[in-house]
Amino acid sequence: MTITSNGYQSGFGNEFATEAVAGALPVGRNSPQRVAHGLYAEQISGTAFTAPRHANRRSWLYRIRPAAMHGGFSPYPHPKASFHNDFDDAPISPDQLRWSPLPMPESRVDFVDALFTMAGNGSPAAQSGVAIHVYAANRDMQGRWFYDADGELLIVPQQGRLHIETELGVLDVEPQEIAVIPRGIRFAVTLPDGEARGYVCENFGAMLRLPDLGPIGSNGLANPRDFLAPNAAYEDVDGDFELVAKFQGHLWRADIGHSPIDVVAWHGNYAPYKYDLRLFNTIGSISFDHPDPSIFLVLHSPSDTPGTSNMDFVIFPPRWLVAQDTFRPPWFHRNIASEFMGLVHGAYDAKAEGFVPGGASLHNSMTGHGPDAATFEKASAADLSKPDVIRDTMAFMFETRAVIRPTKQAIDAAHRQRDYQACWAGLQKHFDARR
Ligand SMILES: [Fe+2]
Repeated sequence: MTITSNGYQSGFGNEFATEAVAGALPVGRNSPQRVAHGLYAEQISGTAFTAPRHANRRSWLYRIRPAAMHGGFSPYPHPKASFHNDFDDAPISPDQLRWSPLPMPESRVDFVDALFTMAGNGSPAAQSGVAIHVYAANRDMQGRWFYDADGELLIVPQQGRLHIETELGVLDVEPQEIAVIPRGIRFAVTLPDGEARGYVCENFGAMLRLPDLGPIGSNGLANPRDFLAPNAAYEDVDGDFELVAKFQGHLWRADIGHSPIDVVAWHGNYAPYKYDLRLFNTIGSISFDHPDPSIFLVLHSPSDTPGTSNMDFVIFPPRWLVAQDTFRPPWFHRNIASEFMGLVHGAYDAKAEGFVPGGASLHNSMTGHGPDAATFEKASAADLSKPDVIRDTMAFMFETRAVIRPTKQAIDAAHRQRDYQACWAGLQKHFDARR
């Protein structure tokens, strides 16, 4: 029951049109009296029917059976109870926090059962905020599919490829690529490399979009044509299967007598997509000082306040550093926003050690952070007559306007680095009023 990719269509949020069987896609109308090949027509709306045209997202699916066909839902007992949205009001510390990679499980665990919630804010009920999860999985989803009604899923693989069969087609992603699965879209994940680890941002807010570019102009950062939506691909399989749903912070399961990956054709602009982070057009200073890290923004979920995101997805890719009379690594700072960082690959230029691929850090609102002592000393003495190049790296950040509340399981986790603050302990006092 493996569906191979049928290729991709290019562009961000385009009006796509694709059919896996010739003639399956109606022409000139969405809901003909009888759809070709005996298919059912079904719309999925990702925004309000009346959302303004530039923000309106919906797709029409032509499928073997409608999505309504499944058994009743009952609570799904997540085997590790680690995947949830319980961000309660208990006091949280403003400490800087850091974690080593989530260990691979000793038993066989698929993508959904592997999800381990690290932190989050807001709620699906308020349609605001995010949940941040990590996964370490070693089993294919077989005969079961998942959908998330609460948020779109931004998946950042760190180790191992993901083969994601969705209703609208197949996404094959590898580390340094991302996948985005919109709310409600059913999918299953298999692991071509046998095991996989990565990060997931579950976005309860407005759908991710590309940022405006202002004075940068009409090109740059993540370019729209590099986003890929799948061509239609389907299977026609009956059996005793399972549909797992996330709805209002809780997991549910239902019997389903067929594979829901049965969409033979679709058109519209509500679709899963992938993007290769290595195609990001990185922009930085060619004189002095850093721009704010918002220059590294890939996608964002806007809030109701202009310029203030529900969530920003930011990357720190390979780049040249040429600024003169400038401390070249990321500076010390505090931020009204809250920052959850991960590392896909390589090293991050603000930390000499401790922040490793698969690990994570959390610096919440107004919590001071920045380069560690070793990085500060090295960069302060660096020869700026030569450019520096940062190669072979891919760090990222989920940044939110609301404080990111770590879960109890993340605070208690054995892989949390309880000595993280020591990385700044070696910063020397250099002040001398006479010099
Ligand atoms: Fe920061």
